Amino acid sequence: MKTLLALASSPRLDGNSETLLKEFCRGAEEMGWNVEMVHINKLKFRPCQACDACAKDGKCIVKDDMQDIYPLVINSDALIIASPVTFGSLNAQLKMLIDRFQCWWHAKYNLNAPFVPDEPKRKGFFLCVGALKRKRYCENAVEIVKVFFHNINHQFAGSLAFRGYDEKGAILKAPEALAEAYQAGKDFVTSVEEKAGK
Ligand SMILES: Cc1cc2nc3c(=O)[nH]c(=O)nc-3n(C[C@H](O)[C@H](O)[C@H](O)COP(=O)(O)O)c2cc1C
Repeated sequence: MKTLLALASSPRLDGNSETLLKEFCRGAEEMGWNVEMVHINKLKFRPCQACDACAKDGKCIVKDDMQDIYPLVINSDALIIASPVTFGSLNAQLKMLIDRFQCWWHAKYNLNAPFVPDEPKRKGFFLCVGALKRKRYCENAVEIVKVFFHNINHQFAGSLAFRGYDEKGAILKAPEALAEAYQAGKDFVTSVEEKAGK
């Protein structure tokens, strides 16, 4: 059974981004996938300290909950990330996690020993929710996620931006948004399987 790693970054449990993420995952589960969900806000970890100790072997020496995350990425088949927009981009919890993959940057570019193989390319998808209708905010977040996926040898397979949802539960009043996320989850894992079958 294939595993989809789902990273929920909002501190608001069952908030708008997590609700959409769960719909996406429900779509994946319906296609026979196992889902491993991580709430980034529940992890205890520090931002990257730029100590560069990882330049030696691609491993982070900071002993905190991030040490559980690296193997989850290595052992999953695809990645889905959901974030609320905060101050015009993805939230701090997710950015902090992304920066802690600096060790994988060294592994890939300096040591030529990436933790996830370059080929066949794994895939990643991104869900983004913001209160305002301004398009640029989700686009900013997407740009960062693209850089992250590239660093960890995942192909950016797409994203969905949901704008105009603010208070907790607002997304529940938008069944078309929930249906879109659910269908995206189905389509995403189907595309991963089609690629593997080639
Ligand atoms: C600290 C903070 C900053 C925010 N900044 C923005 C912003 O710049 N643009 C925007 O559209 N929404 C912004 N929002 C609103 C959230 O994106 C919105 O409430 C979203 O639905 C939250 O998703 P969640 O329920 O998954 O946490 C911000 C919310 C917080 C808490």
